Amino acid sequence: MIKPIIKTLWWENGRLYIIDQRVLPEKERILELKNIRDVWESIRNLSIRGAPAIGCVAAYGVTLSALRIDTKDSKGFIKEIKSNIKYLKTSRPTAYNLFFALSRMERVLEEFSDMSISWLKERLLKEAENIYREDLDCCYKIGVNGARLIQDNMNILTHCNAGGLATSGYGTALAVFFTAKKQKKKFNVFVNETRPVLQGARLTTWELKKAGIPYTLICDNMAGYLMNLGRIDMIITGADRIAKNGDTANKIGTYSLAVLAKYHKVDFYIAAPYSTFDPSIKNGKDIPVEERDAEEVRKIKGRLIAPSDAPVYNPAFDITPTHLIKGFITEDGIIKKPGGWLSG
Ligand code: MRU
Repeated sequence: MIKPIIKTLWWENGRLYIIDQRVLPEKERILELKNIRDVWESIRNLSIRGAPAIGCVAAYGVTLSALRIDTKDSKGFIKEIKSNIKYLKTSRPTAYNLFFALSRMERVLEEFSDMSISWLKERLLKEAENIYREDLDCCYKIGVNGARLIQDNMNILTHCNAGGLATSGYGTALAVFFTAKKQKKKFNVFVNETRPVLQGARLTTWELKKAGIPYTLICDNMAGYLMNLGRIDMIITGADRIAKNGDTANKIGTYSLAVLAKYHKVDFYIAAPYSTFDPSIKNGKDIPVEERDAEEVRKIKGRLIAPSDAPVYNPAFDITPTHLIKGFITEDGIIKKPGGWLSG
């Protein structure tokens, strides 16, 4: 099995743990998620975040809830878990991996509804472990496939955090850098701070520093100037949901980067596993974009930076149209032609 670079979430002796991403990099605090409510809260309040990581923790959350149910009534057991799955689906709307993982857990219940409760409990745990391991494996392959794009002396820009913390532990965009570093390539990563909650400044820098990868932190509004100076050779970000035509939802600010990249003739890549591709959605218009609390914009790390009643608009994601994307770095290779990778 591929080893995670970062211990983002883990299952140990029937208990579910995560690293609390709200307090990084100052504190490395571990949280135990004890019930389905804890799992829902941890996703909603960003203790755990990033599309694949949300999917993995939700799958383990379903298992956790199943193990805690003490009943001999098979139908009631399945009904309660299905209602927990429905509940977890309301935690955040955009990342497709959440729905991908929960649908897999649901399928176990449907396919094996005539099996005993104890058998089902074990099978649900196995499915959660499979989802977690498959993600690690996909991310590792994304790293290998993407590292071919990295050449010595390149400057690559990334946005938000698509690292180990956003996945089962190996990352998507950052997996490319981890692998390129192992191959002894010399490059620098420009890290957008990523307002409002600073996943770039707090989390991506923390991961790159740990991995010994040279990086430079910039404010989001500096990226255009750097491109104009010719100091960005490539952009790689992750994704939260990719529609059938290749339109991609990712952290707010990604679309502006892609437009700037087009203007400055900088290659713009998305790194994502197939579990982020939503075959049911034709184009980006159908991707639900989460709107988050106004306080995230009025404050930075809990401190007001605007009038306390300032009217706010806070979409957490934006949609980058497929024609602005040079390619998708996946576990199967780099897909250069937007659209057409999903049949039907
Ligand atoms: O709101 P977040 O922090 O969950 O948003 C995360 C992102 O937008 C990431 O870039 C995306 O999930 C890719 S993670 C491999």
